[in-house]
Amino acid sequence: MAAEKNENPLWTFDELMEAIPFAMAEGHASLPITGFSIDTRSLKPGEVFVALKDQRDGHDFVTAAFKAGAVAAIVEAGYERKDGDGALIRCDMSDYRAINAQLDRETASDTLVALQWIGDTARQRLQPSARVIAVTGSAGKTGTKEMLRACLARFGKVHASEKSFNNHWGVPLTLANMPRDADFAVLEIGMNHAGEIAALVPWVCPHAAIVTTVEAVHLEHFDNVEAIAHAKAEIFSGLVPGGAAIIKRDSPHFDLLRVRAQAEAARVISFGLDERADVRADALDVGEEGSMVTALANGRRIDYRLAMPGRHIIENSLAVIAALQAVDIDAAEAARALATLPPPPGRGARSVLKAAGGDILLIDESYNANPASMRAALATLAGVPREKFARRIAVLGDMLELGAAAGELHRNLIHAVIGASVDQLFVCGPHMKGLYDAAPAAIKGGYAETAEGLTDLVAGALRAGDAVMVKASNGTRLGPLTAALRTRFAV
Ligand SMILES: Nc1ncnc2c1ncn2[C@@H]1O[C@H](COP(=O)(O)OP(=O)(O)O)[C@@H](O)[C@H]1O
Ligand SMILES: [Mg+2]
Repeated sequence: MAAEKNENPLWTFDELMEAIPFAMAEGHASLPITGFSIDTRSLKPGEVFVALKDQRDGHDFVTAAFKAGAVAAIVEAGYERKDGDGALIRCDMSDYRAINAQLDRETASDTLVALQWIGDTARQRLQPSARVIAVTGSAGKTGTKEMLRACLARFGKVHASEKSFNNHWGVPLTLANMPRDADFAVLEIGMNHAGEIAALVPWVCPHAAIVTTVEAVHLEHFDNVEAIAHAKAEIFSGLVPGGAAIIKRDSPHFDLLRVRAQAEAARVISFGLDERADVRADALDVGEEGSMVTALANGRRIDYRLAMPGRHIIENSLAVIAALQAVDIDAAEAARALATLPPPPGRGARSVLKAAGGDILLIDESYNANPASMRAALATLAGVPREKFARRIAVLGDMLELGAAAGELHRNLIHAVIGASVDQLFVCGPHMKGLYDAAPAAIKGGYAETAEGLTDLVAGALRAGDAVMVKASNGTRLGPLTAALRTRFAV
């Protein structure tokens, strides 16, 4: 393995220095570079540490990075070398900024620009036969990216974003770590502001770009949901010539996205349950453990099974089929991978817990939430058959980053809660309090300000025969609550 790496390293030190002409090396990494990391907690020996200024200043962790096995660190020019530091790559963009007004206006730190330029080089040196797919959308990016990773792995070497590394550092980091001989790359691209995707997607140059869905999330920085649709449409501006724009047919924003895609001369492929979609579900069997789908994809019939339950997952899978076809992959063969793909952690994973006298079904959606995914998850809870699990329990926490509309968007969920025939509702967080107040007394299970405060209330109420669905934005911290339930009702 080591020998193989030496013959074909991800990056040599010289290649790296060539990619960032505004940097000066102080020392030399003698070992081949196996990757890049911005976090010493997950840094693997052989990687280069990139000191970014984000929530914390990465320069405080340079020495720790070397201790963890970093072969070099990319730092700003003024960084003061510490005992134990190895090869430093000092970045100084001042000359570049002086001659390039565009760069001068950008607020990115010099080390972030270095990471971007390394990512850009990685994309340019990717073998020409490789195919790159970008995924954005208000919900379902990570799940869709993971479906594509699994499907494409049957056809070659796949490089895909880790976790939800989809922002100003996540996208370039993913590119920087991309091997030049990858056959496929799948990149998640996210945004909170207009212009963010437009800045990221030129580094990616995708052959196909998916917009999973457009919803009222991240409203904090937008006037309305059309403005969000426009911001998502920025992804089409980075497509390679003739690339495919993959958009949802059954969406009020379909026409807006189509027009924006056509303006970039993209090949538009629509997906969804709508009969007019290019890739649509012709038949569906929506089950508790997953679904059977017969898709009609540009005239081809494709049957596949999904191990993840939920209609929204079916929709995402249709986008996956469209993307596979767009990069000339046998979608029927590739989609077989979906039969065994479990949901990513906290995004609908099901487990059966043991209580006195029987089972409890836990649906863990604690990683993420917005109004659309809340409704989707409540509908999925409603799909659990009463014969198997008699009581439906929803444990909901605050959805974050919704801006001024937050109160209303939380309260409005009451229709979905009632529609799903929820028997007991537990909520935490100041926004969810509004939903709780709007709920009928008969279903009020308990309210707490924080997730921590809710844990004992929920655990105390659960009994055999319950189906419990737990969902909130990750920042609301319902993850520890589901962990506590798993411990309390250990198998
Ligand atoms: N098309 C969709 N519409 C609504 N909700 C969705 C959709 N796809 C996924 N979700 C839900 O959104 C949440 C986040 O999913 P994830 O794949 O992590 O999205 P993202 O990466 O965009 O944040 C999960 O609860 C998931 O079930
Ligand atoms: Mg994500």
